[in-house]
Amino acid sequence: MGSRRGFLAAAGALAGALGAGLRAPSAHAEGSVGPSCAATSAEPFFGANQSGILTPLQSHSYFAAFDLTATKAADVETLLRAWTKAAAELTSGKAVTDLGKDAYSSAPALDSGEAQGLGPARLTLTFGFGAGLFVKDGKDRYGLAAQRPAALVDLPRFNGDQLVAERTGGDLSVQACADDPQVAFHAVRQIARLAYGVAEIRWVQSGFSANLANGDTPRNLAGFKDGTQNPVAPPPPGRGKNSIRPALSPQDVIFVGNEGPAWMQGGTYVVARRIRIALEHWDRMEEDYQEQVFGRHKQSGAPLGASDEFDAPDFQATDKDGNLVIPQNAHIRLAAAANNDGAVILRRSYSYNDGVSFIAERWPPWRQGMLYDAGLLFIAYQRDPRTGFIKIFDKLSKLDALNQFATHLGGGLFACPGGIKDGEYIGQRLFERA
Ligand code: HEM
Repeated sequence: MGSRRGFLAAAGALAGALGAGLRAPSAHAEGSVGPSCAATSAEPFFGANQSGILTPLQSHSYFAAFDLTATKAADVETLLRAWTKAAAELTSGKAVTDLGKDAYSSAPALDSGEAQGLGPARLTLTFGFGAGLFVKDGKDRYGLAAQRPAALVDLPRFNGDQLVAERTGGDLSVQACADDPQVAFHAVRQIARLAYGVAEIRWVQSGFSANLANGDTPRNLAGFKDGTQNPVAPPPPGRGKNSIRPALSPQDVIFVGNEGPAWMQGGTYVVARRIRIALEHWDRMEEDYQEQVFGRHKQSGAPLGASDEFDAPDFQATDKDGNLVIPQNAHIRLAAAANNDGAVILRRSYSYNDGVSFIAERWPPWRQGMLYDAGLLFIAYQRDPRTGFIKIFDKLSKLDALNQFATHLGGGLFACPGGIKDGEYIGQRLFERA
């Protein structure tokens, strides 16, 4: 385990290491979790693809969507240059050096400072462009409309959607992920400061993940292992009977190739959804029933009818009464690539917990009161959302047994441009082509 980072470097390609990596953050895998370890753990910011996508899951996340208020493309470009410079500093554990001027003096503004001494904490910053960067209210604000990727669609309304406008959409997105919540928050805070006068925060969502030192798959707030079946991850060595994991290449299923537009090559599309889970309702269900909902065993994470988490689900298997072992409306049956013409997404989700608020539930209809506002900050990366998230969720939103407990309240779709070299800025190829 201690050599995971070494292995990553040696392998040169992330494909082979990703599976175990997504489940086991390297800071933990190296055997210590304290600040001294975090301080030495920096994730690369520059590269062929943005980081925070294939990067082993960090323990915390802070996702922010921004509305652009600038009227000129040059101001957006300047912002992206400033964000790039700051992101390179922040991901190496440094303070941001160029934040403009303080409001009431000519002195240079200083980094807010709360991340001092915390080190890089494996911070990654992943940037995305929403449809509003290209066209907003029918207007081509920045002369970029012709560069809008066909895949950057307006997400359709899905069955059961309860999206709140204030928590949905946005022209730009930034996801900070780090092994320290303060490092993630600090990063977005500086990014937002740099946007003064050009863009303002539309919505944010923080999240956390129970990363386990032994590399086991973290559990979501429903108590189930979440992240077992991801398309580019092979099962751990020696695990998984008839494994369903084809371990596809991220370059084939996650990252954009030659299909265009050219500026998106090496990029990917992220779907974020804030999904509330009706925990009070869920907690009153027997474990047996909960397992039927997902189609997996709660303790082991194995598909129903199998014994190991990484065994292949048998979607044909029936019990002695002739009933399907994995029910017709089980989450994993409906979401599986095999039942969606091969559609795959890379899930990299976090849990969220925003306290309690007054909620009247759709089901059971008599339940209302101060209920947990908690659930899943669902994050999925894919090469094309039309054949990824939209394809899969169209079906799930109509048929999934989980819908009794899950309500989608917000989120967005963003085109994350490819990675950059030192000296370039995020989205440079888009602005150069426009
Ligand atoms: C509150 C919401 C959700 C929860 C709690 C949840 C939980 C889970 C769990 C426990 C699994 C099985 C373990 C695993 O392979 O990771 C799973 C699998 C999966 N989920 Fe979800 N999920 C949620 C929403 C969604 C949504 C909105 C999608 C959208 C497309 C989705 C797509 C998938 C896919 C593709 C799989 C893998 C299926 C397979 O091939 O076995 N999930 N999810």
